[in-house]
Amino acid sequence: MSSNIVWHDHKITRAQRADNKAQKPCLLWFTGLSGSGKSTVANALDVALHQRGYHTFLLDGDNVRHGLCKDLGFSDLDRVENIRRIGEVSKLFTDAGLIVLSAFISPFTSDRRMVRNLFPAGEFIEVYMDAPLTVCEERDPKGLYEKARTGEIRHFTGIDSPYEAPEHPEVTLDTSRLSVDECIDSLVEYLVSSQLISAR
Ligand code: ADX
Repeated sequence: MSSNIVWHDHKITRAQRADNKAQKPCLLWFTGLSGSGKSTVANALDVALHQRGYHTFLLDGDNVRHGLCKDLGFSDLDRVENIRRIGEVSKLFTDAGLIVLSAFISPFTSDRRMVRNLFPAGEFIEVYMDAPLTVCEERDPKGLYEKARTGEIRHFTGIDSPYEAPEHPEVTLDTSRLSVDECIDSLVEYLVSSQLISAR
């Protein structure tokens, strides 16, 4: 644990950074099983917001695990640390005035709550990718469910590692029923009605 550390205030505030970008920073936190569509929908929303002129940044499970979190595996403890780091990084990016999209399985309620608590009310938007396990397993885009079923991969979420579904997510998207465009429409509608972005 760090000691003898003093917090420094920046001369330019968070609000000033956001004002220069003419936007309200927030974090859209996509959670759900592997194959539930987190990366696909987060990427599509990133494009939609970028095209409207918003300054965004996308943090994605597989990419972050190549760098910032390359020392972490998939034990419960490592997943907790993974989400802790990503929560802090997401916070830094919103402090820089950005709209951040983070797409991680983030299977544990307590970790998602910990990230939520880093943000002022209304700035953390939990997006639950609510696709049934059977659908995710059928999609199996990376062939990982098959490996998990044969025991080649251990501690795979939904198979031999738990996923705790959110109880009160801001947005729920059943990607077994909704197209990517329909998901984007719902998310944009949420952001407009919450006055985080403007209606076109
Ligand atoms: S989290 O549980 O810590 O939030 P994260 O989103 O970073 O997970 O990483 C999940 C990605 O890692 C999956 O999309 C999949 O490609 C890959 N992966 C590899 N092994 C596992 C595993 N045992 N459980 C879940 N995902 C795994």
